[in-house]
Order: sequence, then C-alpha cells, then structure tokens
Amino acid sequence: MRVVMKEGDGDHVSGPLEQPGKENAMKKRIPLSFTVNGEEVDLYISPSRTLLEVLREELELTGTKEGCGEGVCGSCTVLCDGVLVRSCLTLAMEVEGLEITTVEGLGEQGKPDPIQQSFIDQGAVQCGFCTPGMLMSVKGLLKRNPAPDEEEIRRGISGNICRCTGYAKIVEAVVAVTTGSSQNNTEG
Ligand code: FES
Ligand code: FES
Repeated sequence: MRVVMKEGDGDHVSGPLEQPGKENAMKKRIPLSFTVNGEEVDLYISPSRTLLEVLREELELTGTKEGCGEGVCGSCTVLCDGVLVRSCLTLAMEVEGLEITTVEGLGEQGKPDPIQQSFIDQGAVQCGFCTPGMLMSVKGLLKRNPAPDEEEIRRGISGNICRCTGYAKIVEAVVAVTTGSSQNNTEG
C-alpha cells in the first residue's frame, strides 16, 4: 500500500506555511519519499525531523524505540539500504529514495524472522525496549557475516546497551540461529 500524506498533514506543525522570518524557515516542510518495510511512503516533514521521529510519530512504527536520543544506546537501530543506522541521529531527509527496514519488517504475523524465533526460543527477549534494536543489529550482523563466532556476535551487539539483564541469552540466541540449533529453551 502506498501511503501518501499531503503537505499540511502530520509532522505536528500547525498554522500557515507562509510566515515571515526565522519562524517560517523552521516550519517549512519538505517532501520526502522513501520505502519502509517494502511500502513506499510520501510525506512532508520539517527538515529537522529525525528518522526516528518520522518512523514513530508520522508512520506509527513504534517498534523502534528511543532510549538515549544521542546515538549511544542502540535502541533506535534500523537498517537503511541494508546498513545499520541509528535513527535518532539520522535526519529523515537523508533517507530520501532509500529503503528502511524496521523491526516491524523483520517477520510477519505468525511467521517471525528466524532471529526473532531464536530470541523467543532461547529466552533472549528480555525487555521490549532494547530488544528491537538488538534484533536489528543481529540482522545487520548476519547480513555482513552469516556465521559469526561468539566474539564477533558480542562485537556486533556491542552498540546495543542492556541496562538490566545481560547479554548471555542474546548471544546464545544468535549462535542458535546461525547453527540451526534454535529450539524451545526458555529455562534460566
Ligand atoms: S536512541 Fe538512538 S542510540 Fe539511543
Ligand atoms: S534493557 Fe532490555 S533487557 Fe536490559
């Protein structure tokens, strides 16, 4: 489905576009077209909007989380043309014409991506805040390196911070998916 937003829709900016001075410049919106999870989207945004803001607030793709908002925690990680990016540090207008994959695009209802299934099977879904970013980082890692060893896995998720539980189950889940040994194992 093609999503089309007219100038004046969304972006939480109200009032007329034609206003004099600096205020008008800040409120000026630009057209933006890109693909997200296989769907083309067209919308108008303020040039200062981040990709994270557009995903969550304009497109209601709230699986991508905002943690630090400063490029440190990794919870906002998405794929941009197959490359991992921090959507909190990416201006939305930078993704013009590009293909974004968010956690919503990883699997389908009732048919999760093997990485998601392995996280479930291995008990690696620890909280809803860091998990989407972890999944995306693992997806990006396995695109680059389909058979990482444990050290490479740990390095691959090193930009995703868990502040409460730990990384052992996550590493086990990635090992399981890469070795094809993922199965129900939610103990521990
Ligand atoms: S919210 Fe983007 S890195 Fe933390
Ligand atoms: S922050 Fe999500 S499990 Fe620790």
